[in-house]
Amino acid sequence: MERKYITRIFLIDDDEMYSQIIRSTIESNDLFDVEVFYSGEEFLEKLSERPDICIIDYNLPGISGVDVLKHIKAYDPDIAAVLLSGQDRVEVVVEAYNNGANNYIIKNENVIPELQNALKNLAKQIGLKKELLELKSQIVDRNKYSRIIGESKATLNLLRLIQKVEKTDIITLVTGESGTGKELVAKALHYNSNRRRNAFVAVNVAAIPADLIESELFGHEKGAFTGAGSRRIGKFEEADKGTLFLDEIGEMAPDLQTKLLRVLQDSKITRLGSNKEIKLNIRIIAATNKNLFERVKEGKFREDLFYRLQGFLIHLSPLRERDNDVILLARHFLSEFCRENNMSQKTISKSSINSLLGYTWPGNVRELKSTIERAALLSENESIDPEDIIYAGNQ
Ligand SMILES: Nc1ncnc2c1ncn2[C@@H]1O[C@H](COP(=O)(O)OP(=O)(O)OP(=O)(O)O)[C@@H](O)[C@H]1O
Ligand SMILES: [Mg+2]
Repeated sequence: MERKYITRIFLIDDDEMYSQIIRSTIESNDLFDVEVFYSGEEFLEKLSERPDICIIDYNLPGISGVDVLKHIKAYDPDIAAVLLSGQDRVEVVVEAYNNGANNYIIKNENVIPELQNALKNLAKQIGLKKELLELKSQIVDRNKYSRIIGESKATLNLLRLIQKVEKTDIITLVTGESGTGKELVAKALHYNSNRRRNAFVAVNVAAIPADLIESELFGHEKGAFTGAGSRRIGKFEEADKGTLFLDEIGEMAPDLQTKLLRVLQDSKITRLGSNKEIKLNIRIIAATNKNLFERVKEGKFREDLFYRLQGFLIHLSPLRERDNDVILLARHFLSEFCRENNMSQKTISKSSINSLLGYTWPGNVRELKSTIERAALLSENESIDPEDIIYAGNQ
C-alpha cells in the first residue's frame, strides 16, 4: 500500500504576484504545502525547519539564488532544490547542477506544468525515503524494545513513573547500579512517546575519547580542525525530533558539562567550525550508575547541570531488592534463549529457584541474563539444576 505524505515546499521568489500564482497552482495538489519567502535572507532563517523541497528563483535581490542553493545543500543535502530562472545559458545551468540542484526549470510558458511534474517526481522519491525510515523504526520498535519484566513493588513503581513522563519532554535522569535496566527504561520512554517514529540516539559519554567528543556530539564543518576532512552531523542533530540518551553522564568532562548546560537551556547547537546556531527539538534522557550528588560535592560535576538534569528522576532498585522479579526474569530469559537457539524449552528446578533468590546479583539484570544463558547451555536435561548455575560474583 502506498503511503501519502504531506510534502513541505518552500518557495523563494521576490516577485510577489508570480509566487502567489505558483503557490496556488502547486497547492491545488492537497499533498503539497507551500510557504513563500521574498528573499534568500528571510528564507535562511527558516532553513532549520527542514522543508522537503525548495524552489529558488535564480535572480534574487541580496543573496543570490545559487548562494541560497549552496546554503541548503551544505546544511542538508537531502533537501531537494529546484531552481527557476529566466536564463537558459549553459554555464548557468551547469553551475546550478554542480551545486546540487535537483532540477533547473526555465521560466517560459511551460513553467507551471514542468514545475508540477518535477515536484511530483521529487515528492515520490521523498515519500519512498520516508516510508523506508518509518519501516526501519518499526522494526527497531519490535526488536529492541523488549518489555520491562517484573511484578515487585519496585517495578510497579517504575512502570508508574514511566507512564507519568513518557508523553512529556521533561529531561529525565535515570540512575541505578550497573545492569539494572537504565537503557531499557530510556528506550521505553522513547518508544512510548510521540517521538517513537524518530531516532533514539544513545551516546556513551565515557567511551568516547576527550578530543573527539565535542565533534561527536555537535558535529563539525569541513576543515574545523586538523583531520576534519568533511562536514559531519553530530549526535544532537541526529536525534532531532527524537530522543538523545546520554549514558554515563557522571563521567562528562567539566568543560563539556558547561556546553551541555547551555544546549539544554536554549535548545540550540553550533557545529564546530561554524557560527550558525541550529535549533533542535530533542528529548534528553541521561543515565548514570554513579552517585551524581557525591560528584557534585567533590567538585567533579556542575551543580546547576545536576539540577537541570533532574527534571524528573527515575531511580532503579538493585535486583536483590526486587523480590520475586528474579524468578520472573530468569524464566523470561530462559524461554527467550531456548527459542532463539532452537532448543527445547527448559524449566528451572525448585532448588535452583532457591539458589537464584539467595544470590546478591552485583551485576543485576544483565548478570542474571548471562547466568541463565550459561546454565541453559550447561544443563544436560530439560531442567536447570543448581550445578548448572555458575555465579560470576562472590556469593
Ligand atoms: N525489568 C527488565 N525486564 C526485562 N529485561 C531487563 C529488565 N531490566 C534490564 N533488562 C535487560 O538487562 C540487560 C541490561 O539492561 P541495561 O543495559 O538497560 O542496563 P543498564 O542499567 O544500562 O546497565 P549499565 O549501567 O551497565 O549500562 C539488557 O539486556 C536489558 O534488556
Ligand atoms: Mg547502560
